[in-house]
Amino acid sequence: MTISKNKVTARAYTNIALIKYWGKVDQKLKIPTTSSLSLTLKDFYTDTSVLFNEKLLEDKITFNGQQLSEKKAERIVNFLDVVRDLAQQNVYAEVSTINKVPTSAGLASSASGFAALAASASKAIGLNLNKKDLSRLARRGSGSATRSIYGGFVEWKKGFSDENSYAVPFEEEVDWPINVVAVMVNQSEKQMSSSKGMQISVNTSPYYSAWEKVSKKALKEIKVAIKNRDFDKMGKIAEENAMQMHALTLSSSPDYTYFDADSLKVMNLVHSLRSSGLTCYFTMDAGPNVKILVEKQNTSKLVSELEKEFGSDKVIVTSAGPGIEYQ
Ligand code: PMV
Repeated sequence: MTISKNKVTARAYTNIALIKYWGKVDQKLKIPTTSSLSLTLKDFYTDTSVLFNEKLLEDKITFNGQQLSEKKAERIVNFLDVVRDLAQQNVYAEVSTINKVPTSAGLASSASGFAALAASASKAIGLNLNKKDLSRLARRGSGSATRSIYGGFVEWKKGFSDENSYAVPFEEEVDWPINVVAVMVNQSEKQMSSSKGMQISVNTSPYYSAWEKVSKKALKEIKVAIKNRDFDKMGKIAEENAMQMHALTLSSSPDYTYFDADSLKVMNLVHSLRSSGLTCYFTMDAGPNVKILVEKQNTSKLVSELEKEFGSDKVIVTSAGPGIEYQ
């Protein structure tokens, strides 16, 4: 194994979970309680460059051009330790990350962030990982990053150990004219991190075992809906699954929520547009921004309704994106 003399740059795209993961059985290895399924998105991504350099006395991390404080860099340094352990190397790294995703506002910046870091750091240190092992490594940074190794529809099979918890492509090339419209109602950092929030839910929500049961069934059904190109069915399952996940936050002790007033406004608008005949469905991760699934032919109508209410700078249209890319 040889450490690369040149920096290695990788791009990873974020993903939106249609069947969510919300809880771990092993916090260190990030083994989830349930399997999940997502769609990788093409307009939200992270570019990360890594150079391991024997002259460095510590890791040097810059994020969108600014050097991170020790506290903020901690999660990245911990992840680099996992990479160093795997490669049996003891060299520090220069890491530079540019995010095209609003950070910590529920558009899964940790998904693209840790997938890009896993790809660039493992290659830079001389590990030549296949996609399965890259997915396992990305999981050590952030659960949702496990899925961002692949494009299109991706399933994270929960497994029960480090060896068998990883993502597999469900449908990498999506030849289905669907869009995801992101409504960026609030871009400030979230109060409750997803890892803290989900563990509170695992430990205290009286509905947790029901969640494990219903999401297993929903996963099976959504895979059939996707294969059958049944947009209505897919959207309905995804919207219900999102609300069931958010019900875990509301039923935790202490309770918490990622909804803000505008998230609820978007959801109400989706409901009313749907009852007036415009087929669209929402989903929401651990942040207030709402993503709406819509078929291509209905996208411009949906966008104009959203823009009337929230302004054009808040509405971003995207669609299925690719897996990891090296530059
Ligand atoms: O990747 P994490 O550990 O930050 O968790 C993300 C959890 C959700 O985005 C809410 C759901 C998911 O499956 O991506």
